[in-house]
Amino acid sequence: MKWNVEELTAGRTFETTFWPNAAEGTQFKLRATHLDGRRAPKVVLSNDDRIVPGQPCVVRIVEIDKADRPDRGRIVVEFVERAPFKIEGMWLDPVVSKKLQVLLQSGLNILLDGPQGCGKTVLARSIAESLGMVFVFFNCGAVVEATDFLVSIQVRASDSGSPVTDFIKTDVLVAIEEAMEHRDRRYLVFLDELNRCQESARNALMPALDSTRRLFHPIDNTFIPIPDNVQFIAAVNRGREFTGTFGIDAAQLDRFAPLQMDYPPPAAEVEILQRRHPALPGATLEAVVAVADAIRKAKDLPGSLSVRATDEACVYLAHPLFAEDGKRALPEILKTSFCARFPGRWDDVTTDAGTVWGVVKKTLATLRVPVPET
Ligand SMILES: Nc1ncnc2c1ncn2[C@@H]1O[C@H](COP(=O)(O)OP(=O)(O)OP(=O)(O)O)[C@@H](O)[C@H]1O
Ligand SMILES: [Mg+2]
Repeated sequence: MKWNVEELTAGRTFETTFWPNAAEGTQFKLRATHLDGRRAPKVVLSNDDRIVPGQPCVVRIVEIDKADRPDRGRIVVEFVERAPFKIEGMWLDPVVSKKLQVLLQSGLNILLDGPQGCGKTVLARSIAESLGMVFVFFNCGAVVEATDFLVSIQVRASDSGSPVTDFIKTDVLVAIEEAMEHRDRRYLVFLDELNRCQESARNALMPALDSTRRLFHPIDNTFIPIPDNVQFIAAVNRGREFTGTFGIDAAQLDRFAPLQMDYPPPAAEVEILQRRHPALPGATLEAVVAVADAIRKAKDLPGSLSVRATDEACVYLAHPLFAEDGKRALPEILKTSFCARFPGRWDDVTTDAGTVWGVVKKTLATLRVPVPET
C-alpha cells in the first residue's frame, strides 16, 4: 500500500526509520522510504541531528517538494520523538529488542539462537519489513558445497537432447549484485538453519562474514566484495539431538553477535493466539498455554514445544467439529498437538510422549478440565 501524496500534509506525524542517504551530491544526510509502514510517494529526507539511523522514530512533515510531480520531489521531515521498536503481531523480549536495535544499526552479523519455534524466522522477516529493508531468505539446510550459497547447478536437456549445465544464481547472489548497484537500498540476508549445512560450506562463508567481506563468485571465477548495505542475520535451530550445542565451531560463532531468544511468556503467548483465533474463549487459550508452559519447564524432556504446537491446538479447538465441546476437547487434541511431537506414544509412560501426557493430565487437573482415562 502506497500513500497518495494528497494524504501527506505538512504537520502530520508518522513513524519511520532513517538510514544514511547514499545518493551523491545531496544536501540531506538521512533518507527513508516508508511512513507508518506504507511506502511514501516520494523519498523522505531529513537533516535532523536528533534522528539516529536505523532507529525507529516519529517525524513530522515540514514540507513536500513538487507534490504535483509523480517522478520528482521529496518529503522533508523533522524529528518528534523516538519510537519504540516493535514488530506487529510479534512478542519480543524488551532486552533482546534493545540489543537488536543496536546490532541493526551497527551492521554486525546477527545470530538468532533459541529453541524450536520461538519465532526466529518470523522475527528476521518482520525486522526487514518494519525497517524497509529488502529481505532475502536463504535456507542453509540444503547447502552441501560452498558454492551452493551463490549458485545452484541444474542439468537439463538441450534442443538436441544432450545435457546442458545451467548455473542459476541464488537469491543471495542476486541480492549481493543488486546491492552493489543500489547502494541506497538495504538488504537483510537471512541464513536460516545455518547449523544444518556442511561444515566445509560454512567455512567458505566466513570471509563474507568478517572484515574481509568478500565471497567467491563461482560463475565469474573471482572474489566479489560484499557492499555495506548488505547485513547478514542467521538462525540456528537447536535440534533435539543437540540440546545445548549446535555444531557451529567457535571461529564461526565469533563472526556473529549472538542474540538469545526464548518462548514468549504465557500471557504474551495467549495474546498472540487470541489475535489468530479470536473466536476461542480466553480460558481455553490460557489452558493451552499453561500446559505448553508446563511441558517447556519439565525436566528430562528432549527438545521443546514450539508456538506452532500451541497454534495447531487452537486450530482444532476453533473448528466447528471441536468447538462445541469447549475445553472438554482439550485432552484429545493435546494428545496429537503436544504428545505426538515427542518420541514414543502418549499411552506408554516409558517414552517421552508418555511423560508429556503425564504433564498434560496433571496441568489440566489443576485447571479442572476432566481427562478421560482412555
Ligand atoms: N515471539 C513470538 N511472537 C509471535 N509469534 C510467534 C513468536 N514465536 C513464535 N511465533 C509463531 O510461531 C510460529 C513459528 O515461528 P518461527 O517459524 O519463526 O520459529 P523458529 O524459531 O524459526 O522455529 P525453528 O527453530 O523451528 O526454525 C510462527 O507462526 C510464529 O508466528
Ligand atoms: Mg525457523
